[in-house]
Amino acid sequence: MREIQAHPILNFKKGKEVSFFFNGSKIIAYDGENIAMALYRLGIDVFSESPKLHRPRGMFCAIGKCSSCMMRVNGIPNVRTCVLPVKENMIVETQSYYGKLPDKVENFKKSIEISKDVAIVGAGPAGATASITLKEYGINPIIIEQNSLLGGQLVKQTHKFFGSEREKAGIRGIKIAEELIQQIEEMNIDALVNSTAFGFYPEENILGVFRDNQFIKISAKYYLIATGASEKMIPFPGNDLPGVFGAGAAQTIMNVFGIKPGNKILMIGAGNVGLIVSYQLLQAGVEVKAVVEAMDEIGGYFVHASKLRRFGVPILTKTTIKEAVGYPRVEKAITVNLDDSFNEIPGTEKEWDVDTICLSTGLIPSVNLLAQAGCDLKYSPHLGGYVPIRNKYLMTTKENIYVAGDVDGIEEASIAMLEGRIAALSILEKMGFNTQNKITDILNELKSLRNGPFSKKVVQGIKEVEYE
Ligand SMILES: Cc1cc2nc3c(=O)[nH]c(=O)nc-3n(C[C@H](O)[C@H](O)[C@H](O)COP(=O)(O)OP(=O)(O)OC[C@H]3O[C@@H](n4cnc5c(N)ncnc54)[C@H](O)[C@@H]3O)c2cc1C
Ligand code: FES
Repeated sequence: MREIQAHPILNFKKGKEVSFFFNGSKIIAYDGENIAMALYRLGIDVFSESPKLHRPRGMFCAIGKCSSCMMRVNGIPNVRTCVLPVKENMIVETQSYYGKLPDKVENFKKSIEISKDVAIVGAGPAGATASITLKEYGINPIIIEQNSLLGGQLVKQTHKFFGSEREKAGIRGIKIAEELIQQIEEMNIDALVNSTAFGFYPEENILGVFRDNQFIKISAKYYLIATGASEKMIPFPGNDLPGVFGAGAAQTIMNVFGIKPGNKILMIGAGNVGLIVSYQLLQAGVEVKAVVEAMDEIGGYFVHASKLRRFGVPILTKTTIKEAVGYPRVEKAITVNLDDSFNEIPGTEKEWDVDTICLSTGLIPSVNLLAQAGCDLKYSPHLGGYVPIRNKYLMTTKENIYVAGDVDGIEEASIAMLEGRIAALSILEKMGFNTQNKITDILNELKSLRNGPFSKKVVQGIKEVEYE
């Protein structure tokens, strides 16, 4: 129903048919699809109800980082269906309130233990690059990744990358992901996909992982947390309606699963992500009504804004979203102009005929595991929120826990890859390998990459959270 019919870059192939049950009705999905995507493709928007006001809820992040898509699967409540692949005869039910407890305890498998030198949480550019570096020195780490695919955010980025040429600028994100995945496979690096690291138990030095109804206890000498970031929600009436997505979620839905997130879209935020995703929505055959931006100028690169303008998409500065209206999903959006102090100007409200609103209003580092492990965090507006306090070798305030990528501050994939290498080489140095010269080289490369005007605030932020 919502399939993309033609795409200039991507060629979507369906896997073999898999049938499952949704609220008692048989659903035909395809191998490789997640539950939420299969339902969304068929036009089903509502997955759960809010606990107090019983408001409808659908997907928001589409990468397993919020709680919008939680449903009851085979009797187990609170399952994030946007990252759980469909299986034959699965029983999926919409969830009301907080979800009912499982009917039978037999649903859970016996727990297992895995012991490793290094465990890496997250297989985005940071975690993937770190795993390859470790394997180059003969250390076989284990990667824990909650999505079905390795590659993190790269798997949906069809545009040619900005950033450093040495770190793959000019190559499409999806191509970089393919290269990293191929290396991981060829090097036989252990990777657990569809596996969520849900908790760290510092006293026992154990990482708790949940996979396919099984508890896996991972015990490692060193941990690298490369969990990336999640999209920011902004407050406005109706922001919880199905049809309000993070811009990255829209990108996942269309570029990974070949599904249109909506037919008529309003994009909130004219930074690089908002501009790039708007263009990709046009490529998928979606009408982009406008991009609105609260600041008085566009935040993203000129080249991305020009592409949109060539397609006649207006970019309206000093404007924001006031309300999302509709039931049970978005049926229209109301925007309003802002004065120089960011106050709404009464009488400037404008109604937009849209079924989808995408928020591209920034990212927040996903630091939950670090907080739980007892690593010290500090708030840094320049880095996107709470970030781990660390040294330049990316060691946190816990000696055996390292970080790399967006989790330690929002930047780019090129930086995430360099940080992945630094963290891995620092762990190797601790293990007795001589990697200091390589670390120094990469630290210099990182410094030159952060030399531009766009990185000024990031450099300031890092100074505030880095210890000697
Ligand atoms: C639209 C868009 C365009 C972009 N364009 C560019 C560009 O042109 N150039 C550039 O350099 N950068 C670009 N970026 C930024 C880049 O994608 C990110 O900076 C980069 O992906 C960060 O890498 P990472 O490895 O830190 O995190 P991610 O890529 O987010 O990977 C983190 C991984 O960790 C997994 N994970 C998280 N929590 C858990 C858990 N508890 N258990 C198990 N697994 C977990 C996630 O599933 C994910 O796969 C863009 C981003 C977007 C959204
Ligand atoms: S966790 Fe599935 S939509 Fe956010």
